[in-house]
Amino acid sequence: MFEEMHNAPLHEALREYKKRKDTSFHVPGHKDGQAWQGYSDDEDVLAQVMGIDATEITGTDDLHHPQGVIREAQRLAAIQFGAEETYFLVGGSTAGNLALILSVCTTPGDVLLVQRNVHKSVIHGLMLAGAHAVFLAPQQDPGSGLSTLPSAATVGEALRRHPGAKGVLVTHPNYYGMGASLRPLADICHAYGVPLLVDEAHGAHFGQHPALPESALAAGADGVVQSTHKMLTALTMGAMLHVQGGLLDRTLLKQRLAMLQSSSPSYPIMASLDRSRSLLEAYGPALLEKGLTAAREIREGLKQLSRFAVVEPPGASGEPAAYTIQDPWKLVIYDAAGDLSGYDLQERLEAEGCVPEMSDDRYVVLALGPGTTSRHARHLLTALQRIAEVEMKPGDKAATSTLSANFSESVQASDVLSRQISTWNNEEEDLQFAISEPVAFGLTPVSSEEIETIPVEQSTGRLAAEMVIPYPPGIPLVYGGERITEALAERLIELRNSGAKCQGAADSQLYTIQVLKEES
Ligand SMILES: Cc1ncc(COP(=O)(O)O)c(C=O)c1O
Repeated sequence: MFEEMHNAPLHEALREYKKRKDTSFHVPGHKDGQAWQGYSDDEDVLAQVMGIDATEITGTDDLHHPQGVIREAQRLAAIQFGAEETYFLVGGSTAGNLALILSVCTTPGDVLLVQRNVHKSVIHGLMLAGAHAVFLAPQQDPGSGLSTLPSAATVGEALRRHPGAKGVLVTHPNYYGMGASLRPLADICHAYGVPLLVDEAHGAHFGQHPALPESALAAGADGVVQSTHKMLTALTMGAMLHVQGGLLDRTLLKQRLAMLQSSSPSYPIMASLDRSRSLLEAYGPALLEKGLTAAREIREGLKQLSRFAVVEPPGASGEPAAYTIQDPWKLVIYDAAGDLSGYDLQERLEAEGCVPEMSDDRYVVLALGPGTTSRHARHLLTALQRIAEVEMKPGDKAATSTLSANFSESVQASDVLSRQISTWNNEEEDLQFAISEPVAFGLTPVSSEEIETIPVEQSTGRLAAEMVIPYPPGIPLVYGGERITEALAERLIELRNSGAKCQGAADSQLYTIQVLKEES
């Protein structure tokens, strides 16, 4: 009865499938979980999932040639998210970023203008396409030291210099929920006749409530990737790729998706995408109200806790600012006394039973969502209160007011701090340096004879032979072939000393780095 209220065709087809209990003479081999009978009990959650782990049979449609419930579910998703066409992704936004890049960069050597601080999936897309990336430096918010989007001036100048570029790819919002309007970027791209591609992995909820920022599609982007599983309610790996306008070749895009995604896509994931959309359609902004109220309560509560501060956009300055948008569901907090690093604070919060999304040298990022309640808000505030009390040293008891003074000093040192944060922060106001030369990407591995392993301390000036990816946020700090500057080497050492987790590097502890041998 409850289900009848919602139009979720794919989700309903799956429920029907489970109810019918037909005898399976098809894959998957677990036969709706029956292969596990006798080996699992009622509590076995995996066996429960198997009951709905369907495949493409009569009535369940085919993701790569949708004509029934999947086509209808994708059509309804396009309406809900403001796209002309939507494709379900079962490999996360990763699959969407790869498909977008492979559909615009069709010939090795094609140039794509790419914001430098992108998720590794974008770099992998460039490698697969054999593309040449012109990297665009992001702007930096001076208050927090965090990077957002490249400026419109940077994008415009890059398009002027590279008239043959196939498109522009940016990430919005960043992992911290920060950003600025995408409209100026969409306008410039369209003036040059190229698509604006947006990795909106962290903004699937944007545009779904008046208190939330505008979505990339509403701002005019042509291809948009959203991780529905991150900030909305789909199962992990459930994501969507939305397109509008005539600048993307949709036939090619579908071919790329068929190439990248499994021919046996997960029905629980796809049905969860359908259900996430249908809940939004059925309840509208009210679905998100509870989580937004909790976000407001946390921000209000934090005002009483002088020990911790929240990153917020600066007031209107009249200038086109780097940081005008903050996702209310990303709460970026830090120790105003400057004693606890983000990693320390994350550890303290976890000991109190509050598990953050990520941390860096300075900040902790808390991801809220439609499931966050006032009870969760109180839990967090109580945890922070207790951490503040434990951290207060004996002599500090009556000295909370001095904390802000300490913080002012630490803000003066923010030049140093901003360099320590594990997102890519190399702000370049000078357009000459904000736009890189084209960097060739490809799949040919560098042979071991061409590589040597050296201490990070000795790496300045050398060409990196590996990617180093602090995770999260998964933004490569160095990519293969990039020259390691002094500042970059220092950042690597800082990251090592602060215990950051890194992927990609052969020495994940970052004592050494692989570089290309120098010609003798
Ligand atoms: C900005 C950004 N883009 C893309 C991705 C990849 O998303 P997914 O995990 O859904 O594949 C991530 C993952 O963290 C991300 O942060």
